[in-house]
Amino acid sequence: LPSHYTLNSGDKIPSVALGVWKAGRGEVGQAVKTALERGYRHIDGAWIYGNELEVGHALKESKVPREEVWLTSKLWNTAHAPEDIEPALDDSLQKLGTNYLDLYLIHWPVAFSSGPEAYDADLTANPYPTWKKLEEMVEKGKVRNIGVSNFNIQRMKNLTANPLKILPAINQVEINYFLPQPKLVEWSKQSGILLEAYSPLGSDKRVKESLNAPVVKEISEELGITPAQVMISWHVQRGTIVLPKSVTPCRIVENWHG
Ligand code: A2P
Repeated sequence: LPSHYTLNSGDKIPSVALGVWKAGRGEVGQAVKTALERGYRHIDGAWIYGNELEVGHALKESKVPREEVWLTSKLWNTAHAPEDIEPALDDSLQKLGTNYLDLYLIHWPVAFSSGPEAYDADLTANPYPTWKKLEEMVEKGKVRNIGVSNFNIQRMKNLTANPLKILPAINQVEINYFLPQPKLVEWSKQSGILLEAYSPLGSDKRVKESLNAPVVKEISEELGITPAQVMISWHVQRGTIVLPKSVTPCRIVENWHG
């Protein structure tokens, strides 16, 4: 199975990452250090996860050179307005202790106002002004690649119908046993946009259910690998990047050898 994929920008991205959504403060740093020690070179985070400071410290303490690690963060919904984007990015950069990101994603295709109104209909309807500003961030060298998250096919079509200088490199969405998203996988492949699978093991209470699914168990026994390794290999075989989250050292190791 491929250890890396080549993005439409030409950059090579590791096919398996440590996901740090729901990895709490006080545990996420150790998880990042364990992952980097055991060979991971891709950390998938976001500003809203509230743990970027600890991720940044762990990265520094790991002594793995910054340029060897693929670091992703995401622009939160309250910062879609073009004037809010650079300060939001700078905040993530500062917390992570780096001067560039390998990938910055629009976290959701919806925009919240940071003011008294909870919801901004215009920006929600059109992520294009946000995208133009993200292109500028690439030109400034603060971000190497840009993409989106939680966009369905129609939203991808709407965004890419605009004159873009930079095509989205990535769309990060939920993909797992219960939500295989075959149409989006096919469309993305044809469009040259790589998908990243979050909650790849099924997320929360459904992880057990997906890992115990008869077909997964059967393959696991046949190949002599664990059910989680079956699931992770399935994602990579489909050509998607996979972002399993764990804060448990033995699982972090297990997921890397999938
Ligand atoms: P923990 O972080 O306590 O190790 P997903 O990435 O689909 O959202 O799944 C994450 C959930 O699955 C977390 O609760 C995580 O628990 C658990 N998990 C991660 N890796 C494994 C594994 N190899 N086997 C069983 N559960 C796992």
